[in-house]
Formats: sequence, C-alpha cells, structure tokens
Amino acid sequence: MKAIEITVPGGPEVLQVCEREQPQLKPGELLIKVGAAGVNRPDCLQRAGHYPVPAGASDLPGLEVAGTIVDGDLAGSPFYVGQRVCALVQGGGYAEFCAAPLANCLPVPKGLSDSEAACLPETFFTVWSNVFDRARLASGETLLVQGGTSGIGVTAIQLCRALGHRVFATAGSDVKVRACEALGAERGINYRSEDFGAVVKELTNGRGVDVILDMVAGSYVPREINCLADDGRLAIIALLGGSKAEVDVGQILRRRLTVTGSTLRPRSVAFKAAIAEQLYGRVWPLIESGLVKPTIFKTFALENASEAHRLMESSEHIGKLVLAVN
Ligand SMILES: NC(=O)c1ccc[n+]([C@@H]2O[C@H](COP(=O)([O-])OP(=O)(O)OC[C@H]3O[C@@H](n4cnc5c(N)ncnc54)[C@H](OP(=O)(O)O)[C@@H]3O)[C@@H](O)[C@H]2O)c1
Repeated sequence: MKAIEITVPGGPEVLQVCEREQPQLKPGELLIKVGAAGVNRPDCLQRAGHYPVPAGASDLPGLEVAGTIVDGDLAGSPFYVGQRVCALVQGGGYAEFCAAPLANCLPVPKGLSDSEAACLPETFFTVWSNVFDRARLASGETLLVQGGTSGIGVTAIQLCRALGHRVFATAGSDVKVRACEALGAERGINYRSEDFGAVVKELTNGRGVDVILDMVAGSYVPREINCLADDGRLAIIALLGGSKAEVDVGQILRRRLTVTGSTLRPRSVAFKAAIAEQLYGRVWPLIESGLVKPTIFKTFALENASEAHRLMESSEHIGKLVLAVN
C-alpha cells in the first residue's frame, strides 16, 4: 500500500511517500480502507521527533481515519465488512489501509463524507475526555477555550455550545475571533490585543469561568487560575507556550481549584472505548442533526502531507486539515 512515512525527524519535507505492507491485524482490530485521514498538531510533533510512538503502534503518522471496513473478526460486533467507519488510532493513519481497534471505531455519522468523518475522532475524543470527564463541565457552567480556531477549539466551541453552555474562546487575530463567534462562542477574545482574564471576568460579572480547556500552558497558567470561578477546573492538553509556570498555589487551596492534564494517545483501548460509547450516545445525534459540524479548512492529497504540515505550523488555518486518500 501507499503511505507517508517520517524518513528522519525534521521539518515537513521529511514526510515522504513510501510503499509498505498492509498492516497485520492484531486480535480485536479491523482493517479500514482509508478514504481520508485527519491531520493533527501531534502529528507535527511526532514528525519533528518530539512525540515518541507508543510501544506496538505504527511508526506511520496519523491518529484518525475514516473509510470502509475490509477485514477483521467482526463476529458479535455491530460492524460489518463494507461499513463506513471512523476510528481513533495510535498511528498509521497516513496510509491507504489502517488497522484500528474495533472498540475505538464509530459508524460514520449519517450524511457525512469520509473527509468530514476523518475530522472527528482525535478532537472529539480529546475534548470529551478533558472537558466532560476530567473537568466535569456540568449543566449551566461556562467554558473558556484557548486556541478557539484549532481543530480542538472548533470542536470544543461547537460541542459545548450545542450542549447549552456559555463558551468564550481566544484566538490570535480578529478574523479568527469572528470565526470563533460564528461557531458559537459568545465572545471571541483576541489574545494579542486583549487580556483574556479581564474579558472573562467582565463577562461573568467578576465570577470567572468554571472550566478552561488549555493548549498553551506556560505563562497562561497563573492568568487562568486568576480567572477561574471558585471550584473551577483547568484542563491542560498541550504546552504550546511552555511547560514551566509560577502559580499562586494558595488560590488553588482557598478557592478549591483543580488543575489537571492528560494525553490521549497512550491510553488503553478500553479507556478510549468508554469515550467512544459516550460520543456515540451523546454527540453523534448532534452531528447527524447538523447542530455540530466538522469544520474543514483545507483538504490535501495524501502525497501532499508535507504541505498540510506546513499550513498547520503556520497556524493560518481555522479548523481541520484533511488528507484525501482513496
Ligand atoms: N493532550 C491530548 O490528548 C491532545 C490531543 C490532541 C491534541 N492535543 C494538542 O492540542 C493542541 C491543538 O491541536 P490541534 O491539532 O487542534 O492543533 P492546531 O489546529 O494546529 O491548533 C493550534 C492552535 O494553537 C493556537 N495558539 C497558539 N498559541 C496560542 C496562544 N498563546 N493563545 C491561544 N491560542 C494559541 C493557534 O492559533 P492562533 O493563531 O490563534 O494562535 C492554533 O489555532 C496541540 O498543541 C496538540 O498537540 C493534545
């Protein structure tokens, strides 16, 4: 099969087309003829040599795919050969065929193309796991999303708005701020010209937000602690602004705050399967009704994966980048 491999750690140019054997299925896996693969920032980190591949995972990049089931032990499962599915995988998505744990596959929501469905797994699993499971966003609570136009951000804004929450989101330009608001954020905040903490305090009458989904960390952490409401929760999913911060731990203590974080990729198939079940029951109906939509910024041919990485690292995109495969 044709695939994209990381020849050596480095810039986008190290992504090269190659020929590989089709993946050998392990117990509990099915084989997908890939129609499209999503591109995510962690793929860029892996390409640059900053995100080690978990033991046993494919060395090929790509954490999410959509396509058609062509093989696998499907007895007793709800899946069948020929069915269109999307899947969260630990690697191997940038290829014509990809092995996926059956328990981490979901049917393609009705009405979606493979390209649209390939945009779903990585961001929806991550947002659900962090905002709802770890940070326990509850009915009537407010959310601040840092990086509102990232793949993660567009998912978090739409999903939490569709579930009835007030959502605020930061972004690095006025165009992006308006995009956040078009997606459902009550107020987009240009972090280059505005102080997100002050804006959030003003919008919540001085109370602060209940949950922050953060991909920046670094110097943002003390500012985030300042604009969390009492009992607020900060969920950190990336360190775009660095891993070191000086915080007033007294605030965490006095105001009963929670600071948490996680990475999805190394978690077990069973952990991800529990999220898949939640997504299927609670989120897939919102997608099928059109309330929540995949937000594709640009689609590239598989062969042009390096172009997709260049665009992602320019941060000019709003939403998801996709590779069209078969
Ligand atoms: N922990 C996990 O399990 C997990 C899973 C998936 C992804 N992630 C991480 O989540 C992040 C988003 O992933 P993605 O694939 O959605 O990436 P992406 O689309 O490339 O988004 C990255 C975004 O960060 C924004 N940004 C950079 N500096 C910022 C700042 N100081 N304040 C606010 N926003 C800032 C950029 O937009 P601006 O132009 O607005 O700056 C850009 O939209 C990545 O860092 C990725 O590694 C973590």
